[in-house]
Amino acid sequence: MIDSYTKYDHLFNHVLPNAMGDIKIFSNEDDYLIEQNYDAVTGKELIVWKRLFEKLVEPLNRYSSMQYLDGLSTLGLTANEWPNFSELSPRIRDASGWEMTPVAGFLDEILFFELNSQRKFPVTDIIRQSERLEEKYTGHSIANTDEYTPEPDIFHDIRGHAPFLMNKAFGDFLADVGKVGHEILMDERSLGAELVAHNLKRLQNFAWWSYEFGIMKKQAESDDRRSCSNDMEHEIYGSGILSGYDEVMNVVACSQGESDFSQLLPFDIQQVVMTRFDFSEIQDRYFVIDSMERLYADFYDNQELFFFEG
Ligand SMILES: [Fe+2]
Repeated sequence: MIDSYTKYDHLFNHVLPNAMGDIKIFSNEDDYLIEQNYDAVTGKELIVWKRLFEKLVEPLNRYSSMQYLDGLSTLGLTANEWPNFSELSPRIRDASGWEMTPVAGFLDEILFFELNSQRKFPVTDIIRQSERLEEKYTGHSIANTDEYTPEPDIFHDIRGHAPFLMNKAFGDFLADVGKVGHEILMDERSLGAELVAHNLKRLQNFAWWSYEFGIMKKQAESDDRRSCSNDMEHEIYGSGILSGYDEVMNVVACSQGESDFSQLLPFDIQQVVMTRFDFSEIQDRYFVIDSMERLYADFYDNQELFFFEG
């Protein structure tokens, strides 16, 4: 649904062709729930997890936001252990009321926001650079590198997102983003299918430029608590950045004025909701929030942006 072009979409800026290739996208009509088969994880898969995890330890200690680092330590993720959802999920439930819902792959926005509105975070059990991922796409060519695959994977979901779910304020915010998604879809304001699709894209833009690829001004209290000092004037809270070494280093270059490719822009929510993006490349822009509290306030104070009436 969200891929369909609506007559309002010319209002967006930064419109890019967004090819997801042959990725299987699950909807409400599919059998999308799975059980994690923890015992089936191979040594090779664990090696990929460990390699990706370790490469990010120092950069994330230095550059990620404290919400992330605090969540990481209370959740108890390590390089040596493959994430076990049945152990992690109760910790998240106790902290924020969220739980992990293992799913078969990429969910369409309808399903994604619906689950989020119920404090269920969809997680996948497959990792990039693995035989299982290659088998899933036998006969198809999809990107599958340490840095990127369009197929959702356990590394992004757990290393990138899960620590934030240990934070109650963030959990409440994320559930409310899901509820807005659900409200758009239910179309209680009778805006019609075109505006529903358009407004969903607005919410998707907001999600992309905030909790997926957002950065924040350096917070005064963060540096005292870090094991490595942060030599940029920003910190990172977007999970899409935090789960990719190259993207983290691109943000650092950008923050230090050494990037010709990407730019930092103030988080103007009116601009953010109208800005499309590319799933598959290093981002050419990042919107900078003042603080998490400011982001939450921007979201709650500007709900009408997600119910554009044409
Ligand atoms: Fe994500």
